[in-house]
Amino acid sequence: MIKVKKRKFLLLPGDGIGPEVVGEVKKIIQWFNKNKSLDFEIDEDLAGGASYDKYGTPITDEVFYKALECEAIILGAVGGPKWDDVEFSKKPERALLKLRKELKLFANLRPAICFKQLVDASTLKPEIVSGLDIMIVRELTGGIYFGEPRGIKPIDNGERKGINTHTYTTSEIQRVARVAFDLAKKRKNKVTSCEKSNVMEAGLLWKEEVQELHDKEFKDVELNHMLADNCAMQLLRNPKQFDVIVTDNLFGDMLSDQASMLTGSLGLLPSASLGAKNKDGKIRAMYEPIHGSAPDIAGQGLANPIATILSFAMALRYSLDLDKEADALEKAVQGVLDEGLRTKDILSKGMKQVSTSEMGSAIISKLQ
Ligand code: IPM
Ligand code: MG
Repeated sequence: MIKVKKRKFLLLPGDGIGPEVVGEVKKIIQWFNKNKSLDFEIDEDLAGGASYDKYGTPITDEVFYKALECEAIILGAVGGPKWDDVEFSKKPERALLKLRKELKLFANLRPAICFKQLVDASTLKPEIVSGLDIMIVRELTGGIYFGEPRGIKPIDNGERKGINTHTYTTSEIQRVARVAFDLAKKRKNKVTSCEKSNVMEAGLLWKEEVQELHDKEFKDVELNHMLADNCAMQLLRNPKQFDVIVTDNLFGDMLSDQASMLTGSLGLLPSASLGAKNKDGKIRAMYEPIHGSAPDIAGQGLANPIATILSFAMALRYSLDLDKEADALEKAVQGVLDEGLRTKDILSKGMKQVSTSEMGSAIISKLQ
């Protein structure tokens, strides 16, 4: 077999259940190295609260430079109540936001797919969610998350004022919309763009710029505009009307959490955060489950590693062009679900409960 060039993954397990779920990905990377003659190099380091506890900062410069240099980052989760009182600029979440912003990972792909084995795990009726396959493309480096001015300041009457600023430029909007249109072409060819153009100027600009890009370059893709509050409602009423949803940073944060619950569990959904192609055609990328650090269940083997494992499958697909391996891994996950193995979050009657590491190992034996 031909050995491919060594490619480095940086694993940042983070906090809470992060180390457990990323640990299962590590097992899978090692399996690919051994059995598929792939030669992935693994580096692992601290981020989030774990880094704050040791170094007083959510991400050290050293780790940040490693992130700049690796092929792809696999992140677990950061944060937890333990760091509630930490000063804002040092909170665990700042590690994540710094990586997104400084690596320019502007397009966040969050698929919401309802696995047929788990239709009953959704709180919605089976006919509403079965066969669901939506891709949310969230803008990740702009909008109110990063806009200036921001802060909390005292005002004259002795009160305080909290300020955040929602801004977008033409290029920020069009580069993420382009990702959405390109994805739609490989799917059902339909994009729904969401904003609040009825209330916010930046929302109106969003709508106009998406439309302009469409008319210039993507006339063959169906485009609809929808107000974000209506989108939240339609996601519950009739989610299968959507194919690709493109929206800003804050609406994308909320709509993707909402969409994820249509599928039954946050523990199943991966995400990819992608930057622009560089001159060698490479992209910077970070892959992470969309769930949080779930400190309440950390360290007990209760976490579902599937979202992180599927995030690794996205890394194989989008960063390494290893579609065959990604398909195999996704199929292995399906196979394990077919066999009735479930972590606690997706357990239902007649199914067998397994731990985090048993789930990881079962997926590996399906790969064999
Ligand atoms: C997400 C998370 C993050 C966000 C937090 C942890 C900063 O909710 O990735 O959706 O708000 O973007
Ligand atoms: Mg979120």
